[in-house]
Amino acid sequence: MASRSDQGETPYLDALLEYAGRDPARLHVPGHKGGPGAAPALLDAIGERALALDIPALTQGIDTGADPTPFQRSQDLAARAYGAARSWFLINGASQGNHVALLALAHAGDSVVVQRNAHSSTVDGCILAGLTPTFVSPEVDGELGIAHCLTPEALDRALTETPQAVGASAVSPTYFGAVADVAGLAEAAHAHGVPLVVDEAWGAHLAFHEALPAHALSLGADLVVSSTHKIVGSLTQSAIVHLGEGASGRIDEDVVDRAVTLVESTSPSALLLASLDAARQLAATRGRELLGETIAAMVAIRAAVREIEGLDVLDERLVGATGVHGYDPLRLAIDVRGTGASGYDVATLLHDQADINLELAGENVMVGVFGMAEPAAAQGERLVAALRQVVVTLGDRGDRTREAFAPPPPWGELVLSPREAFLGPQEVVCAQDAAGRIAAESLAAYPPGIPNVLPGERLTAETLDYIRTALEHGGSLRGASDRRLSTVRVVAKAG
Ligand SMILES: Cc1ncc(COP(=O)(O)O)c(C=O)c1O
Repeated sequence: MASRSDQGETPYLDALLEYAGRDPARLHVPGHKGGPGAAPALLDAIGERALALDIPALTQGIDTGADPTPFQRSQDLAARAYGAARSWFLINGASQGNHVALLALAHAGDSVVVQRNAHSSTVDGCILAGLTPTFVSPEVDGELGIAHCLTPEALDRALTETPQAVGASAVSPTYFGAVADVAGLAEAAHAHGVPLVVDEAWGAHLAFHEALPAHALSLGADLVVSSTHKIVGSLTQSAIVHLGEGASGRIDEDVVDRAVTLVESTSPSALLLASLDAARQLAATRGRELLGETIAAMVAIRAAVREIEGLDVLDERLVGATGVHGYDPLRLAIDVRGTGASGYDVATLLHDQADINLELAGENVMVGVFGMAEPAAAQGERLVAALRQVVVTLGDRGDRTREAFAPPPPWGELVLSPREAFLGPQEVVCAQDAAGRIAAESLAAYPPGIPNVLPGERLTAETLDYIRTALEHGGSLRGASDRRLSTVRVVAKAG
């Protein structure tokens, strides 16, 4: 097992470099052969060095050979850095992590409690695993029109109402930076004898600075899905799933291992895996210093944004609101209501006028993401200057701060499991004729992005009207095969 003092090492990356450096005869895949067989345009774009390190799995001295192989050591180092019993590198993002989590839970039964606004990969995990979800609503901020986190009380109620549930899945932090009371959620789940999965896709950095909200593994979560590429800086698509130190007896390590393999290519990208090795090394050895700089820069950026007429920011003032136990300062969530414009309009102007591209824009709030090691102060200055200009361009449009946000109607009855609805016979019908039918796809009006309909649920006229109104007001529709909602994919009628 790796020790804490080994965190400066990058065994997997080193093994790749060693292999590439020896100029081996590559009578194996990939066909570009480390560069000579690559398309010239690709070679030109990403360079010979990246191609030379694109080495296949099952290569002696890298991930096969004497135990522990460099690959195993690298995963062990990640487990140590995060305080996990075991960690698995993933090459299909936190999406794969959620698929793994649901497949692992399905070994114990066929019912699970899921936060309603979970990422689509969690619902897809239910489809893959054949789990029937009982949904539990997160707290919705009626002023901002965004969802916060699940409360332990809401989870406890849902688990009491679903005694057959074999686990619970919650999201923390949210897109907007709200962090859940994970210790309370874990306590609630464990009191019902089931494991807690936390989708910490947005929190892979939390373990590395004491000024940040505590990370889910340290608070008793059993399985934690971490999208390392989002903020810690590994390559896009790379992620980690961690098994908690206390998970034994609730989640079987071998089952997780099998689930990882089941939803993974047999040709994982060495570049993605090496990027996880290097990102873990950076976070474990210099994360505290780098995050300290970023956190300080974010304080200054928030203060400067708040000084711009019509703009406000989300920050630790939110903590204490129902469903907000902590706040992640690496997210810059800007409340634009005071400008009279929507977040879509402001984001478009930022793009058009200054080539500033945000992570997300909604009706009231837009979000910029800052990475662990980026020069945040300089990025912030550029953003603030552009926002000042955008507000001038917008002119005086009045203030929408007092406008109420219409809450979505209740979701429809779950008639079939998501898997049955997804795999069964389907047809496409006019949205006007869809009320009463069973949805075969998800529909989520944004804002606030909480799915209004999931596969297997009965469509209601109220919900279809709500989505139509949201679209007419400039909102968007996620998950649907027809993003304008002229048609909906539904379960075919029998006979
Ligand atoms: C909460 C949450 N979970 C999971 C994911 C999926 O992550 P990835 O893109 O790494 O597959 C996302 C993506 O944005 C997310 O927001």
